[in-house]
Amino acid sequence: GERGLIDRFGRTATDLRVSLTDKCNLRCSYCMPPEGLPWLPSDRLLSDDEVIRLVTIAVERLGVTEVRFTGGEPLLRRGLVDILRAITALRPRPETMLTTNAIGLARQATALVDAGLDRVNVSLDTLDRDTFRQLAYRDRLADTLDGLRAATEAGLTPVKINSVLLRGVNEHEATALAEFALEHGHELRFIEQMPLDAQHSWERTSMVTAAEILAALRTRWTLTPDPAHRGAAPAETWLVDGGPARIGVIASVTRPFCGACDRTRLTADGQVRNCLFATGETDLRGALRSGGTDAEIADLWRTAMWGKLAGHGIDDPSFLQPDRPMSAIGG
Ligand code: GTP
Ligand code: 5AD
Ligand code: SF4
Repeated sequence: GERGLIDRFGRTATDLRVSLTDKCNLRCSYCMPPEGLPWLPSDRLLSDDEVIRLVTIAVERLGVTEVRFTGGEPLLRRGLVDILRAITALRPRPETMLTTNAIGLARQATALVDAGLDRVNVSLDTLDRDTFRQLAYRDRLADTLDGLRAATEAGLTPVKINSVLLRGVNEHEATALAEFALEHGHELRFIEQMPLDAQHSWERTSMVTAAEILAALRTRWTLTPDPAHRGAAPAETWLVDGGPARIGVIASVTRPFCGACDRTRLTADGQVRNCLFATGETDLRGALRSGGTDAEIADLWRTAMWGKLAGHGIDDPSFLQPDRPMSAIGG
Protein backbone atom coordinates (compact mmCIF):
# COMPACT_ATOMS: atom_id res chain seq x y z
CA GLY A 1 0.00 0.00 0.00
CA GLU A 2 0.98 3.64 0.25
CA ARG A 3 3.59 4.88 2.68
CA GLY A 4 2.29 5.96 6.09
CA LEU A 5 3.34 8.77 8.39
CA ILE A 6 6.81 7.63 9.38
CA ASP A 7 9.65 9.66 10.83
CA ARG A 8 13.41 9.27 10.85
CA PHE A 9 13.34 7.76 14.34
CA GLY A 10 11.23 4.83 13.21
CA ARG A 11 7.91 5.95 14.66
CA THR A 12 4.65 5.70 12.70
CA ALA A 13 1.80 8.11 13.39
CA THR A 14 -1.58 6.39 13.30
CA ASP A 15 -3.38 8.58 15.85
CA LEU A 16 -4.67 11.84 14.40
CA ARG A 17 -5.77 14.64 16.71
CA VAL A 18 -7.88 17.31 15.08
CA SER A 19 -8.56 20.64 16.77
CA LEU A 20 -11.99 21.82 15.62
CA THR A 21 -11.90 25.26 17.21
CA ASP A 22 -9.52 27.30 19.34
CA LYS A 23 -12.44 28.69 21.35
CA CYS A 24 -13.47 27.48 24.75
CA ASN A 25 -16.16 28.19 27.33
CA LEU A 26 -13.68 27.77 30.20
CA ARG A 27 -10.47 29.59 31.04
CA CYS A 28 -8.35 26.95 32.79
CA SER A 29 -5.33 28.86 34.03
CA TYR A 30 -2.86 26.25 32.68
CA CYS A 31 -4.24 26.99 29.23
CA MET A 32 -5.70 30.47 28.78
CA PRO A 33 -5.84 33.86 30.46
CA PRO A 34 -9.21 34.84 32.00
CA GLU A 35 -9.93 37.34 29.24
CA GLY A 36 -9.54 34.66 26.56
CA LEU A 37 -7.34 34.95 23.48
CA PRO A 38 -7.62 36.52 20.04
CA TRP A 39 -9.52 33.69 18.31
CA LEU A 40 -8.59 32.51 14.84
CA PRO A 41 -10.39 34.54 12.15
CA SER A 42 -13.17 32.51 10.52
CA ASP A 43 -11.72 32.66 7.00
CA ARG A 44 -8.66 30.81 8.27
CA LEU A 45 -10.69 28.04 9.91
CA LEU A 46 -11.19 24.86 7.95
CA SER A 47 -14.77 24.37 6.85
CA ASP A 48 -16.52 21.11 7.76
CA ASP A 49 -15.90 19.82 4.23
CA GLU A 50 -12.22 20.72 4.45
CA VAL A 51 -11.85 18.91 7.77
CA ILE A 52 -13.56 15.87 6.27
CA ARG A 53 -11.35 15.95 3.18
CA LEU A 54 -8.12 16.09 5.21
CA VAL A 55 -9.18 13.38 7.64
CA THR A 56 -10.22 11.22 4.68
CA ILE A 57 -6.75 11.59 3.15
CA ALA A 58 -5.21 10.65 6.51
CA VAL A 59 -7.37 7.53 6.83
CA GLU A 60 -7.40 6.35 3.22
CA ARG A 61 -3.82 7.16 2.23
CA LEU A 62 -1.74 7.64 5.36
CA GLY A 63 -2.73 4.78 7.64
CA VAL A 64 -4.47 6.78 10.37
CA THR A 65 -6.68 4.48 12.46
CA GLU A 66 -7.77 6.73 15.34
CA VAL A 67 -9.21 10.21 15.06
CA ARG A 68 -9.60 12.32 18.19
CA PHE A 69 -11.37 15.67 18.02
CA THR A 70 -10.15 18.33 20.41
CA GLY A 71 -10.19 22.10 20.72
CA GLY A 72 -10.32 24.49 22.42
CA GLU A 73 -13.63 22.85 23.18
CA PRO A 74 -14.79 20.58 20.33
CA LEU A 75 -18.45 20.62 21.45
CA LEU A 76 -18.52 24.29 20.42
CA ARG A 77 -18.01 23.28 16.78
CA ARG A 78 -21.38 23.49 15.06
CA GLY A 79 -20.55 20.87 12.42
CA LEU A 80 -19.26 18.28 14.89
CA VAL A 81 -22.04 15.73 14.31
CA ASP A 82 -21.80 16.06 10.51
CA ILE A 83 -18.03 15.71 10.60
CA LEU A 84 -18.28 12.61 12.79
CA ARG A 85 -20.87 11.01 10.56
CA ALA A 86 -18.60 11.45 7.53
CA ILE A 87 -15.53 10.15 9.33
CA THR A 88 -17.19 7.04 10.73
CA ALA A 89 -18.41 6.18 7.20
CA LEU A 90 -14.81 5.88 5.98
CA ARG A 91 -13.29 2.46 5.33
CA PRO A 92 -11.37 1.18 7.15
CA ARG A 93 -13.48 2.87 9.81
CA PRO A 94 -11.29 4.80 12.23
CA GLU A 95 -11.97 4.83 15.95
CA THR A 96 -13.37 8.23 16.92
CA MET A 97 -12.95 10.05 20.20
CA LEU A 98 -13.49 13.44 21.77
CA THR A 99 -11.45 15.23 24.42
CA THR A 100 -13.85 17.66 26.03
CA ASN A 101 -14.77 19.58 29.16
CA ALA A 102 -18.23 17.98 28.74
CA ILE A 103 -20.14 21.27 29.05
CA GLY A 104 -23.18 20.80 26.80
CA LEU A 105 -22.50 17.10 26.34
CA ALA A 106 -25.74 16.27 28.14
CA ARG A 107 -27.61 17.81 25.19
CA GLN A 108 -25.44 16.32 22.44
CA ALA A 109 -24.49 12.83 23.67
CA THR A 110 -27.20 10.88 21.87
CA ALA A 111 -26.64 12.65 18.55
CA LEU A 112 -22.91 12.05 18.87
CA VAL A 113 -23.42 8.34 19.52
CA ASP A 114 -25.79 8.13 16.55
CA ALA A 115 -23.08 9.76 14.41
CA GLY A 116 -20.70 6.98 15.45
CA LEU A 117 -18.61 8.54 18.22
CA ASP A 118 -16.88 5.77 20.18
CA ARG A 119 -15.54 7.38 23.36
CA VAL A 120 -14.89 10.61 25.25
CA ASN A 121 -12.18 11.81 27.60
CA VAL A 122 -13.45 14.44 29.98
CA SER A 123 -11.29 17.10 31.64
CA LEU A 124 -12.19 17.48 35.31
CA ASP A 125 -9.69 19.05 37.68
CA THR A 126 -11.75 19.57 40.82
CA LEU A 127 -14.97 18.47 42.50
CA ASP A 128 -15.31 21.69 44.44
CA ARG A 129 -17.41 24.45 42.98
CA ASP A 130 -15.30 27.31 44.33
CA THR A 131 -12.06 25.70 43.20
CA PHE A 132 -13.56 25.15 39.76
CA ARG A 133 -14.46 28.81 39.57
CA GLN A 134 -10.99 29.78 40.70
CA LEU A 135 -9.23 27.44 38.27
CA ALA A 136 -11.42 27.83 35.19
CA TYR A 137 -12.89 31.31 35.78
CA ARG A 138 -16.39 30.05 35.10
CA ASP A 139 -19.03 28.59 37.43
CA ARG A 140 -19.66 25.46 35.34
CA LEU A 141 -18.82 22.46 37.55
CA ALA A 142 -22.43 21.27 37.53
CA ASP A 143 -22.52 21.38 33.71
CA THR A 144 -19.35 19.32 33.45
CA LEU A 145 -20.72 16.73 35.90
CA ASP A 146 -24.00 16.58 33.94
CA GLY A 147 -22.05 16.00 30.74
CA LEU A 148 -19.96 13.29 32.32
CA ARG A 149 -23.10 11.49 33.51
CA ALA A 150 -24.71 11.81 30.08
CA ALA A 151 -21.62 10.39 28.36
CA THR A 152 -21.73 7.33 30.58
CA GLU A 153 -25.46 6.83 30.09
CA ALA A 154 -25.08 7.18 26.32
CA GLY A 155 -22.46 4.42 26.29
CA LEU A 156 -19.43 6.53 25.35
CA THR A 157 -17.46 4.23 27.62
CA PRO A 158 -15.01 3.73 29.12
CA VAL A 159 -15.10 7.46 29.91
CA LYS A 160 -11.63 8.58 30.92
CA ILE A 161 -11.09 11.61 33.11
CA ASN A 162 -8.11 13.95 32.70
CA SER A 163 -7.03 15.98 35.75
CA VAL A 164 -4.26 18.55 35.95
CA LEU A 165 -3.19 19.36 39.51
CA LEU A 166 -1.93 22.86 40.23
CA ARG A 167 0.18 23.75 43.23
CA GLY A 168 -1.84 25.64 45.82
CA VAL A 169 -5.08 25.34 43.83
CA ASN A 170 -6.31 21.75 43.60
CA GLU A 171 -3.20 19.74 44.48
CA HIS A 172 -4.91 18.33 47.57
CA GLU A 173 -7.70 16.76 45.50
CA ALA A 174 -5.83 13.73 44.12
CA THR A 175 -7.56 11.22 46.40
CA ALA A 176 -10.98 12.90 46.15
CA LEU A 177 -10.85 12.81 42.35
CA ALA A 178 -9.70 9.20 42.48
CA GLU A 179 -12.53 8.24 44.81
CA PHE A 180 -15.03 9.90 42.50
CA ALA A 181 -13.62 8.10 39.45
CA LEU A 182 -13.59 4.71 41.20
CA GLU A 183 -17.14 5.18 42.40
CA HIS A 184 -18.39 6.01 38.89
CA GLY A 185 -16.27 3.51 36.95
CA HIS A 186 -14.10 6.04 35.15
CA GLU A 187 -10.41 5.66 34.43
CA LEU A 188 -8.74 8.74 35.91
CA ARG A 189 -5.43 10.03 34.55
CA PHE A 190 -3.49 12.79 36.26
CA ILE A 191 -1.58 14.92 33.76
CA GLU A 192 1.61 16.76 34.63
CA GLN A 193 1.21 20.40 33.72
CA MET A 194 3.11 21.23 30.55
CA PRO A 195 4.48 24.56 29.29
CA LEU A 196 1.64 25.17 26.84
CA ASP A 197 -0.26 28.02 28.47
CA ALA A 198 -0.77 31.26 26.57
CA GLN A 199 0.54 33.25 29.53
CA HIS A 200 3.88 31.38 29.60
CA SER A 201 3.65 31.06 33.37
CA TRP A 202 4.67 27.39 33.62
CA GLU A 203 7.52 26.66 36.01
CA ARG A 204 9.18 23.32 36.38
CA THR A 205 9.66 23.88 40.10
CA SER A 206 5.98 24.50 40.83
CA MET A 207 4.67 21.60 38.73
CA VAL A 208 2.94 18.82 40.68
CA THR A 209 4.87 15.71 39.61
CA ALA A 210 3.65 12.20 38.85
CA ALA A 211 5.79 10.92 41.74
CA GLU A 212 4.01 13.23 44.19
CA ILE A 213 0.60 12.23 42.87
CA LEU A 214 1.38 8.53 43.11
CA ALA A 215 2.64 8.99 46.67
CA ALA A 216 -0.63 10.70 47.61
CA LEU A 217 -2.69 7.91 46.04
CA ARG A 218 -0.61 5.24 47.79
CA THR A 219 -1.66 6.61 51.16
CA ARG A 220 -5.13 5.23 50.32
CA TRP A 221 -4.76 2.42 47.79
CA THR A 222 -2.30 -0.25 46.74
CA LEU A 223 -1.14 0.43 43.22
CA THR A 224 0.38 -2.36 41.15
CA PRO A 225 1.61 -2.09 37.55
CA ASP A 226 -1.16 -2.73 35.01
CA PRO A 227 -0.27 -5.76 32.89
CA ALA A 228 -2.54 -4.55 30.06
CA HIS A 229 -0.37 -1.48 29.93
CA ARG A 230 0.63 1.23 27.59
CA GLY A 231 2.21 0.78 24.15
CA ALA A 232 2.07 4.26 22.65
CA ALA A 233 -0.50 5.55 25.15
CA PRO A 234 0.76 8.52 27.14
CA ALA A 235 -0.82 7.25 30.34
CA GLU A 236 1.06 4.85 32.57
CA THR A 237 -1.57 2.88 34.43
CA TRP A 238 -1.82 1.06 37.74
CA LEU A 239 -4.34 -1.41 39.09
CA VAL A 240 -6.10 -0.08 42.18
CA ASP A 241 -6.14 -2.59 45.06
CA GLY A 242 -5.52 -5.44 42.63
CA GLY A 243 -7.97 -4.24 39.96
CA PRO A 244 -10.02 -4.32 37.85
CA ALA A 245 -10.19 -0.55 38.42
CA ARG A 246 -7.16 1.33 37.14
CA ILE A 247 -5.71 4.76 37.49
CA GLY A 248 -3.02 6.50 35.45
CA VAL A 249 -0.58 9.34 35.23
CA ILE A 250 0.51 11.14 32.08
CA ALA A 251 4.00 12.17 33.09
CA SER A 252 4.88 14.11 29.97
CA VAL A 253 7.55 16.09 31.77
CA THR A 254 9.22 13.76 34.29
CA ARG A 255 8.84 10.53 32.26
CA PRO A 256 8.58 11.54 28.61
CA PHE A 257 7.06 9.00 26.23
CA CYS A 258 8.14 10.68 23.01
CA GLY A 259 10.01 7.57 21.85
CA ALA A 260 6.69 5.74 21.48
CA CYS A 261 4.67 8.68 20.16
CA ASP A 262 2.19 7.74 17.44
CA ARG A 263 0.47 11.13 17.04
CA THR A 264 0.01 13.63 14.27
CA ARG A 265 -1.98 16.83 14.75
CA LEU A 266 -4.14 19.07 12.62
CA THR A 267 -4.99 22.55 13.90
CA ALA A 268 -8.36 24.22 13.33
CA ASP A 269 -6.73 26.41 10.68
CA GLY A 270 -5.39 23.46 8.73
CA GLN A 271 -1.77 23.23 9.86
CA VAL A 272 -0.08 19.91 10.52
CA ARG A 273 2.04 19.78 13.66
CA ASN A 274 4.29 16.75 14.04
CA CYS A 275 4.48 17.28 17.81
CA LEU A 276 2.60 19.11 20.57
CA PHE A 277 5.85 21.05 21.06
CA ALA A 278 6.78 21.51 17.40
CA THR A 279 8.07 24.96 16.55
CA GLY A 280 7.05 24.68 12.90
CA GLU A 281 3.86 23.74 11.06
CA THR A 282 2.95 22.59 7.57
CA ASP A 283 0.16 24.44 5.81
CA LEU A 284 -2.37 22.00 4.39
CA ARG A 285 -5.12 24.62 4.18
CA GLY A 286 -3.14 26.57 1.61
CA ALA A 287 -2.50 23.45 -0.43
CA LEU A 288 -6.17 22.53 -0.25
CA ARG A 289 -7.42 25.97 -1.26
CA SER A 290 -4.97 26.32 -4.14
CA GLY A 291 -6.26 23.14 -5.73
CA GLY A 292 -3.81 20.56 -4.38
CA THR A 293 -4.68 16.94 -5.15
CA ASP A 294 -5.17 14.31 -2.45
CA ALA A 295 -1.85 12.75 -3.44
CA GLU A 296 -0.03 16.08 -3.12
CA ILE A 297 -1.58 16.79 0.27
CA ALA A 298 -0.70 13.30 1.48
CA ASP A 299 2.92 13.92 0.44
CA LEU A 300 3.04 17.24 2.30
CA TRP A 301 1.75 15.47 5.39
CA ARG A 302 4.38 12.70 5.06
CA THR A 303 7.14 15.29 4.74
CA ALA A 304 5.84 17.14 7.81
CA MET A 305 6.02 13.98 9.90
CA TRP A 306 9.41 12.90 8.59
CA GLY A 307 10.82 16.04 10.24
CA LYS A 308 9.49 15.17 13.72
CA LEU A 309 12.15 15.59 16.42
CA ALA A 310 13.11 12.80 18.81
CA GLY A 311 11.50 14.47 21.82
CA HIS A 312 10.05 17.64 23.28
CA GLY A 313 13.25 18.74 25.03
CA ILE A 314 11.44 20.48 27.91
CA ASP A 315 14.51 19.86 30.06
CA ASP A 316 16.97 21.30 27.53
CA PRO A 317 18.31 24.74 28.44
CA SER A 318 17.47 25.81 24.88
CA PHE A 319 13.81 24.69 25.14
CA LEU A 320 11.36 27.17 23.66
CA GLN A 321 7.65 26.91 24.36
CA PRO A 322 5.64 26.68 21.11
CA ASP A 323 4.21 30.03 20.05
CA ARG A 324 0.69 28.62 19.95
CA PRO A 325 -1.00 27.65 23.22
CA MET A 326 -2.68 24.29 23.89
CA SER A 327 -6.10 25.71 22.97
CA ALA A 328 -4.92 26.40 19.41
CA ILE A 329 -2.90 23.21 19.00
CA GLY A 330 -5.46 20.79 20.38
CA GLY A 331 -4.85 18.72 23.53
P1 GTP B 1 -6.53 7.69 25.23
O1 GTP B 1 -6.16 7.00 23.96
O2 GTP B 1 -7.99 7.67 25.48
O3 GTP B 1 -5.74 7.31 26.41
O4 GTP B 1 -6.28 9.23 24.93
P2 GTP B 1 -5.13 10.25 25.19
O5 GTP B 1 -4.65 10.16 26.57
O6 GTP B 1 -4.16 10.16 24.10
O7 GTP B 1 -5.91 11.58 24.92
P3 GTP B 1 -6.31 12.88 25.70
O8 GTP B 1 -6.77 13.82 24.67
O9 GTP B 1 -7.23 12.59 26.81
O10 GTP B 1 -4.94 13.41 26.22
C1 GTP B 1 -4.59 13.42 27.52
C2 GTP B 1 -3.34 14.18 27.71
O11 GTP B 1 -2.24 13.48 27.21
C3 GTP B 1 -3.27 15.48 26.94
O12 GTP B 1 -3.89 16.46 27.63
C4 GTP B 1 -1.83 15.76 26.99
O13 GTP B 1 -1.53 16.31 28.23
C5 GTP B 1 -1.25 14.39 26.87
N1 GTP B 1 -0.86 14.19 25.50
C6 GTP B 1 -1.63 13.83 24.47
N2 GTP B 1 -0.91 13.73 23.35
C7 GTP B 1 0.34 14.06 23.68
C8 GTP B 1 1.56 14.16 22.96
O14 GTP B 1 1.64 13.93 21.77
N3 GTP B 1 2.66 14.52 23.67
C9 GTP B 1 2.60 14.79 25.00
N4 GTP B 1 3.74 15.12 25.61
N5 GTP B 1 1.48 14.70 25.71
C10 GTP B 1 0.37 14.36 25.06
N1 5AD C 1 -0.58 20.88 30.62
C1 5AD C 1 -1.16 19.67 30.76
N2 5AD C 1 -2.40 19.38 30.32
C2 5AD C 1 -3.07 20.37 29.75
N3 5AD C 1 -4.30 20.39 29.24
C3 5AD C 1 -4.52 21.62 28.75
N4 5AD C 1 -3.46 22.42 28.94
C4 5AD C 1 -2.53 21.65 29.57
C5 5AD C 1 -1.23 21.89 30.05
N5 5AD C 1 -0.64 23.08 29.94
C6 5AD C 1 -5.18 19.23 29.26
C7 5AD C 1 -6.62 19.52 29.52
C8 5AD C 1 -7.33 18.42 28.79
C9 5AD C 1 -6.32 17.93 27.80
C10 5AD C 1 -6.76 18.10 26.39
O1 5AD C 1 -5.16 18.66 28.01
O2 5AD C 1 -6.95 19.48 30.87
O3 5AD C 1 -7.68 17.36 29.62
FE1 SF4 D 1 -10.76 25.03 27.58
FE2 SF4 D 1 -9.42 22.78 27.57
FE3 SF4 D 1 -8.10 25.09 27.65
FE4 SF4 D 1 -9.56 24.32 29.77
S1 SF4 D 1 -7.73 23.25 28.90
S2 SF4 D 1 -9.52 26.38 28.83
S3 SF4 D 1 -11.24 23.25 28.85
S4 SF4 D 1 -9.32 24.34 25.96
